Amino acid sequence: MVAEAAEAAEVAGKSLFYFSLFIMTSESRKSTHKVAIIGAGTMGNGITHVFAQNGFPVTMIDISKEALDRGLNTIIQNMDRMVQKEKITSAEKDRSLGLIKTSADIKTAVSDATLIIEAATENVDLKLKLFKDFNQFSPKDAILATNTSSISITKIAAVTDRPQQVIGMHFMNPVPVMKLVEIIRGYSTSDEVAKEISDITLRLGKVPVVVNDYPGFVANRVLIPMINEAIIALWEGVAGVEEIDTVMKLGMAHPMGPLQLADFIGLDVVLAILRVLQDGYGQPKYSPCPLLVNMVQSGKLGVKSGEGFYNYTAGNKELIVSKAFKP
Ligand SMILES: NC(=O)c1ccc[n+]([C@@H]2O[C@H](COP(=O)([O-])OP(=O)(O)OC[C@H]3O[C@@H](n4cnc5c(N)ncnc54)[C@H](O)[C@@H]3O)[C@@H](O)[C@H]2O)c1
Repeated sequence: MVAEAAEAAEVAGKSLFYFSLFIMTSESRKSTHKVAIIGAGTMGNGITHVFAQNGFPVTMIDISKEALDRGLNTIIQNMDRMVQKEKITSAEKDRSLGLIKTSADIKTAVSDATLIIEAATENVDLKLKLFKDFNQFSPKDAILATNTSSISITKIAAVTDRPQQVIGMHFMNPVPVMKLVEIIRGYSTSDEVAKEISDITLRLGKVPVVVNDYPGFVANRVLIPMINEAIIALWEGVAGVEEIDTVMKLGMAHPMGPLQLADFIGLDVVLAILRVLQDGYGQPKYSPCPLLVNMVQSGKLGVKSGEGFYNYTAGNKELIVSKAFKP
């Protein structure tokens, strides 16, 4: 009896030991994720910010030294604002900033990363080239994620020899504020990698929603045709800029009207995503409004160019309709 109890205790002790070891291994793997973010632009610096703020060591990488300086400055300013608003303490800010490194050398920076998140310019050839590099220069078990708004995850995964470890991690702008991360499973993405990325998203204080890889995923498949329809309504003279935006703000409780949102996203980006939907589904309902095409061709890209449906000047928060749309 005593011997049996001792044996049971030993077995239980061993299982406890292996169980703790399992927890330690998976926990230590998680807590030691070394993150590399490619791109220091709008999204790259936001993603770097949230990883560092949540305790991950992170290297922000860009080919442009200027973009790296600008990106790091944006993170510092955003964290300063959070300290002023008492969302984080100044010690937390210092600790977070201490976890961030910058680099212009992709090959070295990804060589010991366990999670790589690509947030470089939305260009398919560029992304394919970057993923070939990640495949070659990062550790074999590293997860390769992309923040692409519209490019096929499956197509990106196909240039690597580890498509099961390639996944979409679609953060929303502004990253430190927005709660959603749309997680896109490519055709070959494994359950384990989808689960790991969902867990990491939760650790960032965000909400993961897992979707499958079809053009536009969910967010842009629903959002971008709505914006296009608002532009068509303007073009056809159904109503003016302010009227269309007000209907959607006050009538549908959207925080911002579709035309203002288009300016914020960038009209070139809206057009590019419509082209992806048009190519992917081959349906006329995704044809870009000719007004949108004209605006992009004439360099009226929204906030980033200073003019779109509205005019933008630094320091002015008032919404002023562009004179092209004034009666
Ligand atoms: N802006 C948004 O609202 C938004 C929202 C969700 C997803 N996205 C996606 O995020 C990605 C980045 O968009 P963004 O708005 O931050 O663009 P951005 O133009 O602000 O920044 C892109 C950065 O990538 C850098 N870059 C270009 N080639 C590079 C290379 N070879 N290596 C390293 N860095 C390189 C550029 O120098 C630039 O700093 C895109 O795929 C975009 O579709 C954007």
